Amino acid sequence: MAQSLSIVQKAGIGLGALFCVTVLWGAVQPREEPPYDPVKAHHEHPEQIVWSHNGIGNLGVTGTFDRAQLQRGFQVYRQVCSACHSINRVAFRDLEALGYGEEQVKVIASEYEVADVDSDGEPTTRPATPADKFPLVYPNEAAARAAQGGAYPPDLSLITKARHDGTNYVRSLLLGYRDEVPEDFAKPDTLWYNPWFASLAIAMPQPLIPDAEQVEYTDGTPMTVENYATDVAAFLTWTAEPKLENRKETGLAAIGFLIIMTFLGYLSYKKIWRDVKKGKPA
Ligand code: HEC
Repeated sequence: MAQSLSIVQKAGIGLGALFCVTVLWGAVQPREEPPYDPVKAHHEHPEQIVWSHNGIGNLGVTGTFDRAQLQRGFQVYRQVCSACHSINRVAFRDLEALGYGEEQVKVIASEYEVADVDSDGEPTTRPATPADKFPLVYPNEAAARAAQGGAYPPDLSLITKARHDGTNYVRSLLLGYRDEVPEDFAKPDTLWYNPWFASLAIAMPQPLIPDAEQVEYTDGTPMTVENYATDVAAFLTWTAEPKLENRKETGLAAIGFLIIMTFLGYLSYKKIWRDVKKGKPA
């Protein structure tokens, strides 16, 4: 039966065999262990929890913000985080999306001072209006570092987008302070041990202290550090993507539209080709 193989075919088979042998050989080689790195070994991944803005199945396809939670988170931000961190990309009037009325926003804004110039062009400050953005805590990075012992507390407006799995990360970071430092990790004395922070040693002192009831919740939500951390993480998700709900709605509407159009397209295909398929003359 067999016609003898051509030289090209033989070369091809040979090459293929050589390739297979090389791959197998590579697969059974012992792997070189990367050198032990205590930072990698002790680093923790954010705890995954269910968020209303992640919608059905926590998948992130659908979802809406929990307004009451955002308001509580804003309260935590205002009473704790705002001592060091700005949210300079958020305007006071944006807060109406959290369910505050126009008057309430005016009152909140008036509690902040923003930079302005007087009629002589001299720099001055005045109470903020709803059109202003949240002011910076420090006028510039150098001033911030000088006040924070060399560390820079970043603006938090976009932090949940700037970190992988940002919402869960911020929550875990806030709950992640640990007293016991692993023996093989040399923590600088001026920093705090937090295995959720990339370098494990963070310059931010623990902002949320267990059992201290730092923030007074008025809606009956238990005043635990877990709730504070969760609520402020949700709030910072909103500051980073205030239009999250619109994006999801538009996406779902577009998918619905495409599904309907696909169905209509299929029906018209059936109709146009019906006679041709039956073998009738066109
Ligand atoms: C006493 C000042 C202070 C307070 C209060 C404070 N922070 Fe910080 N925060 C810092 C400093 C300083 C850093 C920079 C840490 C570093 O680079 O080691 C930081 C960093 C961060 C980071 C960035 C971590 C990263 O991955 O880079 C987040 C997120 C954060 N803080 C959230 C918060 C939240 C939320 C609150 C309120 C619950 C808060 N902080 C309260 C000083 C503060």
